[in-house]
Amino acid sequence: MNIPTKKARKILVTQALPYANAPLHLGHILEAVQTDIWTRFQNLNGNECLFFCADDTHGTPVMLKAKEMSISPEELIKKVYEDHKSTYSLYGINFTNFYTTHSDENKKYSEKIYLEAKKNNLISKKIVEQLYDEKEGMFLSDRFVKGTCPKCGEPDQYGDNCSKCGASYDVLEIKDPISTLSNSSPIRKKSEHIFFDLPQKIEILRKFLEESNLQMPIKNKLSEWLSDDLKQWDISRDAPYFGFKIPEEDNKYFYVWVDAPIGYIASMDNWFKDKDLDTEVIWSDDSDHEIYHFIGKDIAYFHGLFWPALLSSANFKLPNGIFVHGFLTINGEKMSKSKGTGILAKNFAETCDPETLRYYFAAKLNDKVEDIDLNFEDFIQRINSDLVGKYLNIASRSASFLKKNDNKLSENINKDLIKILVDEKQNIINLYEERKYSKLVRLIMDLADQVNKYINDETPWKKETNEAVDICSTAINAFKIITIYLSPVIPNLTNNAFKFLNLKKDISFNDVDHLLSGQINDYKALLNRLEPLIISEEDDMENQNLINIKQFSEVDLRVAKIIKAQDVKEADKLLQLTLDVGELGTRNVFAGIKGSYNPSDLENRMVVLVNNLAPREMKFGLSEGMVLASSNDDGVYLISPDEGAKPGMKVT
Ligand code: 2FM
Ligand code: ZN
Repeated sequence: MNIPTKKARKILVTQALPYANAPLHLGHILEAVQTDIWTRFQNLNGNECLFFCADDTHGTPVMLKAKEMSISPEELIKKVYEDHKSTYSLYGINFTNFYTTHSDENKKYSEKIYLEAKKNNLISKKIVEQLYDEKEGMFLSDRFVKGTCPKCGEPDQYGDNCSKCGASYDVLEIKDPISTLSNSSPIRKKSEHIFFDLPQKIEILRKFLEESNLQMPIKNKLSEWLSDDLKQWDISRDAPYFGFKIPEEDNKYFYVWVDAPIGYIASMDNWFKDKDLDTEVIWSDDSDHEIYHFIGKDIAYFHGLFWPALLSSANFKLPNGIFVHGFLTINGEKMSKSKGTGILAKNFAETCDPETLRYYFAAKLNDKVEDIDLNFEDFIQRINSDLVGKYLNIASRSASFLKKNDNKLSENINKDLIKILVDEKQNIINLYEERKYSKLVRLIMDLADQVNKYINDETPWKKETNEAVDICSTAINAFKIITIYLSPVIPNLTNNAFKFLNLKKDISFNDVDHLLSGQINDYKALLNRLEPLIISEEDDMENQNLINIKQFSEVDLRVAKIIKAQDVKEADKLLQLTLDVGELGTRNVFAGIKGSYNPSDLENRMVVLVNNLAPREMKFGLSEGMVLASSNDDGVYLISPDEGAKPGMKVT
């Protein structure tokens, strides 16, 4: 008899591409975890699901960050790429391919889609006025302009979209603009720009909103934007810009938001290369693949309108769905560096097993566009209560009785209990599919509660070995089912649990239906209870030169009085100073200030001394510290305290 097999779905998922100008923070991990759980679930459920991402490498922020670090943009994006890749792997994010938008494949598809759009009369040119920072000598990309939102009046918004009302607008519309690069008011300057004709795509976009899988509030918001006056989309940027040059143009670059989403295609194309998969077929209307994008709510406009419009202009398939999540808050606050809530993902991973954060995020995530709060106390409590106290407790308490039976499982198990767990399989599959992870986690923990209650009621500790082994074999079978249910959420921990259960093969949801028999292994704690977290502060590339207050307080700065200043004949730049440091005595210091001061003018002058600098033996004698001075090409300027300061006083 032919048993019909359920046809596996072919699914491609992406998460938003992180910018290559900074390390990942926990907000990036929230999205990666949401996407990774869904991908792992699809595969566990017999579908073929691939997960693509890349670094978003182009645009002004990357260019300026590289400049600030005195390296080339190429060097910066290489460094960041390694950092991003290793951070994602700490959290078990199982990309099929993590690529870069600065690639040949991306250049090829960006040019192709653009040239198709041009062929289809969707491209035009116009002289536009733009904001120009005269101090920095460059046109300002939207991100480097701040001002008041023209739609809702919220101050301090970026030049491209508003974080309060979500509107997307032209940078020239923003009120009271300021260049965030130089803090000056930019001027308006003319330049020719290239535009994509978004209004021509209105019908296709309407259809897309109708047919694709979108959450209701996102659908509503996109429809609202669609009914507003759709504008021509400015897709070019002037030099200096780090990105791809626009073909058939002189010194014009693609705006980063053109080639960023095309980076999804490029990442796939790069991976498909040596496989039996054809990018153009997969991205055509005849595709047998479903495509889903996971993104944050701040970029819904780009993915819901620009992206399908761009794709359709080159006859590419449109995504089957866009799944939008809210922002991450930490202890109830928006993430912010100044408040110490902009926690770097790699720092957090040092404080506890990163799998625990995956679990916590899953316990909070749902299919809504709601913000998610990571509350540290709640986090610790949740992990200790759910994962240690409920889930793993089943294994640890059962294992001790089974050990008396050489870890051999009995086949005389309580089928009623197992049925309760097996019966929830379809529910669990549906909750994963619909991304209702918090409901799912609650359901699984309810099952764990029932298993623990079963053990409590059956009291194996009061029973003869045989009966105790029956009870614990039932509990271990239940543990196996729960482990399968939890595996997309905590893949590493559940893999270790599978090893404990002696299950080595690829696990799928089908394994829920089969009883476990034979011998298992000794139980070793798979997770320890969490202690309160101590998280190191943000330490991103910008802050690599910063010291903390403790490091600063280690420098002993003192007011000192120059009691004698002498020329050092053999040295071009040095004067020898004898300093009075009050109760601390006197110090001999060689200072590089010869060109700027006459020794006789310096006597009795008050200066600031670095008192605990290790003494340095010089050709002319011992230098016992350093006096503070500022300098530029014109000369050296000693730093002096205000009148009234006395030798020996601490400078803080
Ligand atoms: O908002 C961001 O962080 C962008 N780098 C996301 C790009 S997603 C895709 F379109 F490339
Ligand atoms: Zn607004």
